[in-house]
Amino acid sequence: MTILSLRDILWYAGVAAAVPWSDNGPKHLHPDLVAQGPDLKLNTKGAGTQKPNILFILTDDQDIEMNSLDYMPFVQKHLLDQGTLFRNHFVTTALCCPSRVSLWTGRHSHNTNVTDVNPPYGGYPKFISQGFNENFLPVWLQGAGYNTYYTGKLFNAHTTKNYNNPHVKGFTASDFLLDPWTYNYLNPAYQRNHDPPIIYHGQHTLDILIDKAYALLDDAVASEKPFFLAVAPVAPHSNIEGDISSIDEIKNAVLSEPIPLRRHAHLFPDAKVPRTPHFNPDKPSGVNWIAQRPKLNKTLVDHNDYYYRQRIRALQGVDELVDGLFRRLEENDQLDNTYIFYTADNGFHVSQHRLNPGKECGFEDDIRVPLIVRGPGVAAGDISKAVTTHIDLAPTIFGLAGIPPRDDFDGLAIPLEKAQATVKRHEHVNVEYWGFAAEEGSLGGAIYWNNTYKSLRIIGENYNLYYSAWCNNEHQLYDLTTDPYQLRNIYPGYADYEENQTILGASLTRVIHRLDSLLLVLKSCKGVVCVKPWGKLHPDGDVESLPDSLLPTFDPFYEQQQSVSFSRCEQGYILDAEGPQDALSYSRDGAHWSHWV
Ligand SMILES: *[C@@H]1O[C@H](CO)[C@@H](O)[C@H](O)[C@H]1NC(C)=O
Ligand SMILES: *[C@@H]1O[C@H](CO)[C@@H](O)[C@H](O)[C@H]1NC(C)=O
Ligand SMILES: *[C@@H]1O[C@H](CO)[C@@H](O)[C@H](O)[C@H]1NC(C)=O
Ligand SMILES: *[C@@H]1O[C@H](CO)[C@@H](O)[C@H](O)[C@H]1NC(C)=O
Repeated sequence: MTILSLRDILWYAGVAAAVPWSDNGPKHLHPDLVAQGPDLKLNTKGAGTQKPNILFILTDDQDIEMNSLDYMPFVQKHLLDQGTLFRNHFVTTALCCPSRVSLWTGRHSHNTNVTDVNPPYGGYPKFISQGFNENFLPVWLQGAGYNTYYTGKLFNAHTTKNYNNPHVKGFTASDFLLDPWTYNYLNPAYQRNHDPPIIYHGQHTLDILIDKAYALLDDAVASEKPFFLAVAPVAPHSNIEGDISSIDEIKNAVLSEPIPLRRHAHLFPDAKVPRTPHFNPDKPSGVNWIAQRPKLNKTLVDHNDYYYRQRIRALQGVDELVDGLFRRLEENDQLDNTYIFYTADNGFHVSQHRLNPGKECGFEDDIRVPLIVRGPGVAAGDISKAVTTHIDLAPTIFGLAGIPPRDDFDGLAIPLEKAQATVKRHEHVNVEYWGFAAEEGSLGGAIYWNNTYKSLRIIGENYNLYYSAWCNNEHQLYDLTTDPYQLRNIYPGYADYEENQTILGASLTRVIHRLDSLLLVLKSCKGVVCVKPWGKLHPDGDVESLPDSLLPTFDPFYEQQQSVSFSRCEQGYILDAEGPQDALSYSRDGAHWSHWV
């Protein structure tokens, strides 16, 4: 199924050049990296008719907003200098397991219903019971003639007890980290193919992973087929020495600082969390439990800076792994026919908005992650501003492998070649979350249960917004053009609301009606509707963006829409707690609105 018609491409191309940075630019990168690289022609040398290989490096909880990439010289050398950074790349659920399931299936969490790290709402057992073991990327790639390999963490609640009930499908060879040892940096358990798990007492998880990744790459290169290899180190996730495969265990677990390889333990003694305006601000942020957070005292600020240093130290092992993988690709003459992806399952915050270390929030820190792609035809040293998300990655890999996209993909292939980058994609990201938010770090430990929300991140010419509706029916609206650190909630009724403020020349009330209707469509969208949600509100196709929707003619239509709301907070995707599901569609005769079926 082709999602973009020629008409779309022409329409998008007309406005593409003007799409601005969504934030204050590529502030974290070395100045040399900001310069645009040469316009590469597709390099087919060595490719023949063979499909390209895919190497996918997936880190755990790695931020982009706290500058973690600045501390990774090999990622800079092999990926940022030689590939394209997608600076507007987002996850759709800021929690490991739901995000990973969305990544490997190309579907939103509301369409996988794997919304948590543990059963009943998430984890490996829920992945299995939802039928995805027969229906996810490695299975599809094998069907298309690929050999497929994986090492590291696949999902949460994938344990030494359930790993063979059933085994993960779809991999030619695999070597998975298993709970309760997944996050135990110095006592990891890995489980190879159908062999029993091995606990590597006293050995560092990254040392083990590096060996396994190189061995799998050697096997992959030696095979006759194109390969897909995913390498998923646990760094820079917190260290955990207990079991967290149930909610009761999470309550008692200590999520302490990540542990670097010994050779990196002394590095960056002066590094600190960047003191951005949203670092432990004088005024509370957000709504719900976040708005109740007290300012962090010096003990916590200092501890969190230490936590931050341990993160970037732990990432040094990942950086070495990246160098080693590139060296092997080069030595085996595979670099010209391999696409390399580097990303993380979700972002992370440390002291921003007065929060102790953690993820699970809808702020930029947690939903915006690194995505760097290098490969034939991908511009070197370039930065793309396309709005992209994790549900676009399976469709992107399908495109590279020459497989037609599936109808149940909620995302859209990312334009990787520079020539395609002038094709403007959609402006929106649908973000969703169910259940708890947990504080990490050895001074953290609090768990906030009612962290269920739906959000819309929307970025276009002259607008850059975040809108959210929470399960207690509080709301957030941030205008990131004027408030890039999300410190002023301008939703009516909150302290920073100003009566006559406008966005795109329209009153906040009118803008909020549009954002809420778009969120109403996105929160239950499937397939192409998730890519072109305005098409559901305006089936005749004359509205394709927020500015289009602001025509005063449409005011009565938007005023009549039901609002996104919840009847209570639930820990999972319980439909009857989630208010209206159906959006009205505009009909041109204006006399009545019809329900979309
Ligand atoms: C800092 O805050 C933490 C958490 O509220 C508290 O346990 C600790 O006693 C405080 N430390 C100081 C020095 O006030
Ligand atoms: C908003 O605009 C109205 C009409 O122009 C004006 O009467 C009112 O004083 C303005 N309010 C503020 C807070 O500026
Ligand atoms: C969490 O949500 C539930 C259901 O809406 C409610 O009963 C409970 O009081 C909430 N808890 C807090 C701490 O707000
Ligand atoms: C999602 O899964 C949970 C747990 O099995 C179930 O209770 C819920 O009804 C499911 N939600 C939907 C929308 O199917």
